[in-house]
Amino acid sequence: MGREYPSDPEREGESEISRIADIVQHVGPAGFHDLGPGYPDPELIPTNALRGAFATALDRYGDLALRYGHDHGALPFREAVAEHLSRTEAHPWSPEQLLVTPGTSQMLDTVASALSRPGDVVLAEAPTYDLALRIFRDRGLDVAPVHRDRHGPVPGAIEEAVRTARRSGRRAAFVYLVPTFHNPTGTLIPLSRRAELIDAARGCGLTFVEDDAYADLAFDGLPTPPSLAALAGQEGVIRLGTFSKTLAPGLRLGWLGSSARRCRELAGRGVVRSGGAASHLPSLAVAGLLGDGRYDTHLRGLREHLAERRNALVTTLRDTLGQDFTVPLPPGGLFAWIGLPPWLPETEAVSRAAEAGVLVQPGSPFGSPTPAIRLAYSATPPTRLHRAAHALAGAWTLKDG
Ligand SMILES: Cc1ncc(COP(=O)(O)O)c(C=O)c1O
Repeated sequence: MGREYPSDPEREGESEISRIADIVQHVGPAGFHDLGPGYPDPELIPTNALRGAFATALDRYGDLALRYGHDHGALPFREAVAEHLSRTEAHPWSPEQLLVTPGTSQMLDTVASALSRPGDVVLAEAPTYDLALRIFRDRGLDVAPVHRDRHGPVPGAIEEAVRTARRSGRRAAFVYLVPTFHNPTGTLIPLSRRAELIDAARGCGLTFVEDDAYADLAFDGLPTPPSLAALAGQEGVIRLGTFSKTLAPGLRLGWLGSSARRCRELAGRGVVRSGGAASHLPSLAVAGLLGDGRYDTHLRGLREHLAERRNALVTTLRDTLGQDFTVPLPPGGLFAWIGLPPWLPETEAVSRAAEAGVLVQPGSPFGSPTPAIRLAYSATPPTRLHRAAHALAGAWTLKDG
């Protein structure tokens, strides 16, 4: 399905790749292993199930699926997400505590506009999701990096960043975190640290924006701790979920979970009142997949595929890279995060990888305080990941270049 597009006689003769590139955001160049973007593999998108779900939604709701939607987003979707969340984290969620969103990144912009004014400071763990940094900067916000240790952001660093902002006469607006299978490092903040972080933010009167894009992607049956929002009883936390990584990014569909009061405030903003919640038809289609168990079945298969890919990449790198590199095993999500030795600068690692036919992301755009490389294993089959890992090891362990 990812390779289907309408035929256009005027464009006959152009290569398939250039025509696909006119339709989608990114197409990996031919001849490379593209471990750059954190996309799901088009082969793993459940196209048939989605085709059926859209048809069912149109049959069931008719023109209701095509009008401006409810400001909070259609109730069947919010009910289905509330049920999914209540079941997966053993904490009650209700439809009033949820909004439908056009995906996490676009909602981050709305949330940033609601919680801050230009010149404010946003606290974000370093490293963090690069496009969140870009969204905040586009809003005229300064980002204060919050130091992480091996358990995640350090609570004392949040308090210190708030004090520093105040000393310079500025307001700390909110804290942005990716607690579960973090982009770019793949790490998971354990329960005890989550509780400490909530205490620290409450002490400073700060709201958390919890980006949980990868929460459904735990490997090896690993139980994930409750979200910050669940631990805080939904108060003082805005949690963002997306179907971009689990179903299909082209749906532009996600959800926001917070207190009912916060949801009412956000649903009342002009950008939402004009047109109602985004992605109305996709939300009604996905509500069907959530409601009849097909989403859960799909997730089980997806997690297995992703874990197999993680193993192919990370175990091969661990076997071949040697002691100078750090190669943690991510417990879920889409990314492996490789710590580089002092003799291999990031730019050099990126260019050597490209010469060896592997495209990778440097750590610096994510605000990494130490030289590192992010590898996305989500969009490449295991046999190719195995080859890519050998190519990287060959390119990176050659000390004299
Ligand atoms: C942490 C994080 N949040 C959000 C997104 C994007 O989500 P969406 O497609 O829903 O905007 C990504 C994708 O890379 C991500 O890594």
